[in-house]
Amino acid sequence: TETAAALVERLTAIVPDFPKPGILFRDVTPVFSDPVAFGRVCEALAAPFAVGAGFQAVAGIEARGFALAGGIAAQHQVGVLTVRKAGKLPGEVLSEQYALEYGEAELELRPGQLPQGTRVLVVDDVLATGGTAAATTTLLERAGYEAIGFASLLELDGLSGRERLEPRLPVTTLGRVPA
Ligand code: PRP
Ligand code: MG
Repeated sequence: TETAAALVERLTAIVPDFPKPGILFRDVTPVFSDPVAFGRVCEALAAPFAVGAGFQAVAGIEARGFALAGGIAAQHQVGVLTVRKAGKLPGEVLSEQYALEYGEAELELRPGQLPQGTRVLVVDDVLATGGTAAATTTLLERAGYEAIGFASLLELDGLSGRERLEPRLPVTTLGRVPA
């Protein structure tokens, strides 16, 4: 049987010059649409974090993190927290700004949806500089949760995302690719 890492490598599409000239875009959506790969990668992403005390919820980062978070959460019978781009959530929200390659972005979380101290696994499609994951961790901690790890399909080499998150937040990815 093909491993989760092999499935990610085989199914991820490399799209040159998207969304702008010079950017090599990694499109992981074929991993989501493949019926074998989706379940298998969800299992592999969560496995290192399901030992010991484990996780009690999964936070998905908009938008591709939502799909992975849903798959993992269903397999482990826990719920999902949705970490959204600014302006999408009603009511009380916590906001965190973070730096992108060019400019700033903002993520938001609705507090009060799970008990204080809930152990949360953070999930996204790709780890690059780690800014998105770090902002998400801050949001979770501000909401009173404990971020216990980060999992993504791919990490981009040379951008120090893993170094930024570890050792405070252990990182699991299913493949490393050049930035
Ligand atoms: C991409 C990717 C990660 C993030 C990683 O999202 O989906 O969420 O970049 O980059 P970082 O580690 O340097 O923060 P992007 O912000 O491009 O938006 P999208 O998910 O809406 O496409
Ligand atoms: Mg993203």
